[in-house]
This record gives sequence, structure tokens and C-alpha cells, in this order.
Amino acid sequence: MRLSVIGCGYLGAVHAAAMASIGHEVVGIDVDERKIASLAAGEAPFFEPGLSEILSEGIASGRLSFSTDFAAAAGAAVHFVGVGTPQVKGGYAADLTYVNAAVDALLPHLSEGDIVAGKSTVPVGTAASLAPRVSATGATLVWNPEFLREGFAVQDTVDPDRLVAGVPAGDEGERATQVLREVYHPSIAKGTPFIVTDYATAELVKVSANAFLATKISFINAMAEIAEVAGADVTMLADAIGHDARIGRRFLGAGIGFGGGCLPKDIRAFSARAEELGRGESVAFLREVDEINMRRRERAVQLVQDGLGGELFGKKVTVLGAAFKPYSDDIRDSPGLDVAVRLHGLGASVTLTDPEAIENARRQHPHLTYVADRDEALTGADAVILVTEWDEYRRELSPEHAASLTAGRVVVDGRNAFDPAAWRAAGWTYYGMGRP
Ligand SMILES: NC(=O)c1ccc[n+]([C@@H]2O[C@H](COP(=O)([O-])OP(=O)(O)OC[C@H]3O[C@@H](n4cnc5c(N)ncnc54)[C@H](O)[C@@H]3O)[C@@H](O)[C@H]2O)c1
Repeated sequence: MRLSVIGCGYLGAVHAAAMASIGHEVVGIDVDERKIASLAAGEAPFFEPGLSEILSEGIASGRLSFSTDFAAAAGAAVHFVGVGTPQVKGGYAADLTYVNAAVDALLPHLSEGDIVAGKSTVPVGTAASLAPRVSATGATLVWNPEFLREGFAVQDTVDPDRLVAGVPAGDEGERATQVLREVYHPSIAKGTPFIVTDYATAELVKVSANAFLATKISFINAMAEIAEVAGADVTMLADAIGHDARIGRRFLGAGIGFGGGCLPKDIRAFSARAEELGRGESVAFLREVDEINMRRRERAVQLVQDGLGGELFGKKVTVLGAAFKPYSDDIRDSPGLDVAVRLHGLGASVTLTDPEAIENARRQHPHLTYVADRDEALTGADAVILVTEWDEYRRELSPEHAASLTAGRVVVDGRNAFDPAAWRAAGWTYYGMGRP
């Protein structure tokens, strides 16, 4: 099938390349000329495992191309819209400027029977408000939210755990459903659940999934806060409650909390939309979820300060990680980077290292010191804090080796990823999150 993908960021670039990899003919369109030039040259403009490979394969096969010209979308049967929906400045709501602009730019190039498939995460009600503009061209709007995880985006796009489509009622919706079935045929044939529903449910599935995951993380972080004053160990608590199949162990890793380009802004946008709908109280707990999350960053800073005897000024602190999670170079609302900035603000001399995210972090926070080499970054540090659990820190950094490089022996494990006994045995004063 011929497809277009509007917006070639973390979602769209992967979607375009993944759709080409399963045999479709795809054009990716974005307003960012540099991004499009890089993608057209077969170079991923960001780090995502497996993306470079399917990008160059797609381009070499002739099935994948990129353009800044919306006219390139003409002739595609399905147009996916995956532009950004960031938090508005000065508020909690989602900024729909980019979604509106992308849809408006697409309208002149639509033909009778085309499908416009929204993939961006949007407040409930967005599809219903966009639909008349799309219908006026003879095309049909569907909402097909995306659930990919950065770091596993290629795998999640090619082989998702479910597909959700919000479609209009009647024959138009049925026809659109058939077209989407064709697009996603390889995964549907493998048994991936394909849930067809109305616009509002599809939009809510996405935001409620993110609200649930954020709540689960903040739940265990709230338990970490209690464990800290009670002298308990939250990681053991998580293991123990996680054995209950109704609870499950995943997403119960206490630490410095969640971040990234999705969870924080999505729960805020959900609260804002619920308020607009007159049901703010139904998701009032999401404010608490957000606050618990932000408090863990303060706690991590506090632990570094405690470890250094209460004084951060002039102390050398090495921060291991900058990306909001491993296997990604995404630093949007990265809790680790926030911790680094706070430490710097309190007078510490902060050195950051990360296998993939240094360039992005440097662009946003040029005043911090960045060192690509892990060991060089550790050399001479008074304290070390782990904020992103990359394998090269979690698995490959031995406490003895670290001790041979640093000046001090204070380690704050912001992800509860190290073995406290091993670090203590090597002479370190170890601080975990919610662990004695
Ligand atoms: N990143 C994820 O893991 C993920 C997962 C699921 C859903 N989402 C959702 O997908 C959407 C996109 O997220 P992202 O992480 O890819 O963001 P991103 O910032 O990486 O990419 C957005 C892209 O849209 C482009 N763009 C903006 N306005 C445009 C326009 N008018 N026309 C064409 N292109 C335009 C930007 O240049 C940018 O390349 C968001 O709604 C997000 O919540 C993201």
C-alpha cells in the first residue's frame, strides 16, 4: 500500500521505516529540513536501536522516501499523523498547534476515500473536532494511537502488543477498518489483538494506559518514601508484592521516577482535559502521581548532599546518564538531567556522561560539563550518582574499578540498579532510593 507519515520524530520516523520494512511504499513528511535530509540519507536523526538498519534497507529498496513537501502525500491511501503534542507553555494542557497545522497542510492533498490516521497522543475529543475538516475532502479520519516504547520502538511498531483504532460509525468506519487491517496485516495475521472502537475510546485508551503506568511507578516511589522513614527496603517489598499476579513486578522499580516525552506531559494533559469536561476530580490523583514523581528528584539531590557531609559547593559529582531511560538518546523531561541541573545549581561541579544522549543534553544545558568516556568522567569525583541504568553502568561497572578512579567513595543509586553489598564491600557509602 502507499502510505504517508506526517511528522518524523521518535514516533513517525520509526513508523515510516517500519511500515516500509513490512512491504508498504512510504513517504515520511516533516517540516524540519535537517531531520528530513538526515532521514533521506538513511541516517537516523536520533538513537533508536534497529532504526538505522530498517531506514537504509527501506531507502535502498526504493519503498521509503522523505520530503518536506506535503504534496508528496498525494496518492497515498493512508496518511498517518504523528506530530508532537507537547505541554502548552504556562499550562498543563496539550498543545494541539502541530496536529492542527499538520492536518491543515495535508487537506489539499487528500483524495476521496483516503484515510487520515491520527497516531499522536491527544486529549479526548480531538478526533471528533478534526473529523469534519477531513470529511469535507472525501477522506475519513481514524484515531490509531501509538504505544511504542522508546528503546524498543522498531520491535513495538512491527510487532505491537495491540492495535487500537477509533473509527466513525457506519459504512465509512467499516471501510476504514478494512484499510487499516490491510496496513497492519502482518501483525494481525500473527494474532495481535485489533480493537476497533469509537474516537473517544481510542483516545482515552492511550492516555489511560500512560496514566496507569505513571501511577504504578509513583505508587512504588511513594512506598520508597515510607520505606525511607520506616527503615524498610522498597526493592524487596516490590519483589514480594510483584509475585502477586494481580500486581506484577514490572514498573515497580523505585528510583528517581519517570520522565521522557510522554508520561509527564500526558498525565498533565489528561488532568487538564478532565477539568474541561467537568470531571477533574476523577483524575485528581494524577496531580499526586506527578508530585511524588518530582519529589524523588529532590530526594536524589538530598542523598548526594548527605553523602558529601551536607556541602555540595565545589564538590565534584559525576552523573552516570542523561537520557530519560536507557537505549534512548531522548532527554525530554529526563529526571536524571534534572537532578544534574539541580546539583549544579547548588554549587556542585557536575560532570555528565551518557553513551548516547550527550549531544542532546549539551544543547539543552550547555553550562554543564560532558565527558563521553565513562572512566574519564569518574576520575577524581567526590560522589557518583547513577540516573540512567545503561548496561555499561549497571552491569559493566564494577565498584572496585569505580573506586580506583574516584577521589571519594559516595554512590547514590538513583535507579536501585547496583548491588548494595558489592558496593559497600568495595568501600563505598551506598545510598539507594527507598533502601536502608
Ligand atoms: N516518543 C514516543 O515514545 C511516543 C510513543 C507513543 C506516542 N507518542 C506520541 O507521538 C507524538 C509524537 O511524539 P514524538 O516523540 O515522535 O515527538 P517528536 O518531537 O520526536 O516528533 C514530532 C515531529 O513532528 C514534526 N512536526 C511538527 N509540526 C509539524 C507539521 N506541521 N507538519 C509536519 N511535521 C511536523 C516535528 O518537526 C518533529 O519531527 C506525540 O503526540 C507523542 O505523545 C510518542
